[in-house]
Amino acid sequence: MTQKEFGRGWTKGQTLKSSLLFALHFLIFIGIAAVLLFWGRRFGGLGVYLKEQGANYLYALFCIFLLFVVSYCYFYFENKQILSSGKNIALIFCILDIYLLLSCFIGYRISVYARPIAFVALLTLVLIGRRDAIFMNILCSLLIFVIDTFAVEQVSAKECYSSLIISFTAGMFAIFLGGKARTRFSVIGIGMIIVIPIVFIIFLLAVPDFAAETVAGQPSVFQGILTQMGYGLFGGVMSAVLFLAILPILEKAFNCLTDFRLRELTSSDAEILKKLKEEAPGTYNHSMMVAQLAEASAAAIGENVDYARAAAMYHDVGKLHYPEHFTENQGDYNLHDELTPELSADIIRSHAKDGYTFIRNRHLPDFLADVALEHHGTMPIRYFYAKALKMTDGELNIEDFSYMGPKPQTKIAAIIMIADASEAAVRAVGAKDPINTEKAIRAVIEERMDLEQFAECDITIADLTKIRLALVNALTGVYHHRIKYPGIKYRRTENGTKGESE
Ligand SMILES: [Fe+2]
Ligand SMILES: [Fe+2]
Repeated sequence: MTQKEFGRGWTKGQTLKSSLLFALHFLIFIGIAAVLLFWGRRFGGLGVYLKEQGANYLYALFCIFLLFVVSYCYFYFENKQILSSGKNIALIFCILDIYLLLSCFIGYRISVYARPIAFVALLTLVLIGRRDAIFMNILCSLLIFVIDTFAVEQVSAKECYSSLIISFTAGMFAIFLGGKARTRFSVIGIGMIIVIPIVFIIFLLAVPDFAAETVAGQPSVFQGILTQMGYGLFGGVMSAVLFLAILPILEKAFNCLTDFRLRELTSSDAEILKKLKEEAPGTYNHSMMVAQLAEASAAAIGENVDYARAAAMYHDVGKLHYPEHFTENQGDYNLHDELTPELSADIIRSHAKDGYTFIRNRHLPDFLADVALEHHGTMPIRYFYAKALKMTDGELNIEDFSYMGPKPQTKIAAIIMIADASEAAVRAVGAKDPINTEKAIRAVIEERMDLEQFAECDITIADLTKIRLALVNALTGVYHHRIKYPGIKYRRTENGTKGESE
């Protein structure tokens, strides 16, 4: 690295680029806020209004600026990955901009209690993570509090403070409950649950007013309380409904890999898996088998099991280009008998790159494309290299018979590499007892270590040992020894069916 290291492994250039992008999005946020707050005011009237309220607006602007400086510092020290890509910064601000629009529109036209307060918490939880969702929930609660308090006249002080506490608590409830949501529609259930604290807080806040007004002989306040509680109910449910409506758009636009999307991508209805099943049934069965092994391996080393399963299911989609050139989809006739080993090797190794392009072109998550590209690393294609060696006396360049890489960059890509090769290796073993299975898997891992295939990811020897044990366990389970049942021949008689030993 030529540039001087700055911060935790970041260069000055990276820090500058991320802070400039952050500042640009901040200005857009302020622009949206200004349009929303001054909407409908005429230019003449706006000048007088700004003269009267200028100090308040300036104070609000300074508070919002400080909140965004704190946010930049939070991401810089806690999750630099967010700042490392313009796409992630845009995602964060996109969530904030949508929330600002909804909060101003609903808050100042309907009621501050009708805002979809848990919307940001739910979106950040699913798209980024729990820790950042907690921070974003605090940030949004404070941002809207500042705008309500200093930039909008029609919101009373009591409403400002109560909407702050409601927004914070409902958001936190949504984050803690949201982690358990397994389907998109279970989020509606969360929306219904977070309504409980919202309605309760609104009720408690309104009780003193109700008591005072009742003494004064005006029981109509009770109706007001019910209306406000109704708004709270609306806000909670709207949080879940808007989350369900906007999540798929953000998932697609920012190509995010959420648990919901993972589940859809790995379901039997997924378009590409259906295509694989129809056009390359052998590859489909192999991929499902690798998915089982990858799941067991990921669980053994504490990696995300859903990610590993999805990556395994899509790792060989590049074979859809020439399915009949791969052993698992061939019958008795082998197309490679007519081809030179160089051409065969070229077709075989292109499936990694084809898989990458195929996944990228369909706007599926980058993570799946990367695993498809990396799952063979720079391994030689032994069969065709050996075939070429037999056919020539001269020197052969092994790179012409090797995959083009890159080597696995993540632990999950390394898992897929090992599970993929182990599945094929164990299938080729004669007696599939635990000893032979263990030998075959050990050979697969050692060969890849010798060829430095794990040099670019942070997998450890301890991880490799755990993966080996998990694979032996899973594969011996698949090919477990069956008891040989004695043969029986059945025949029908007048007195019913009778059996005889064969
Ligand atoms: Fe492959
Ligand atoms: Fe494979």
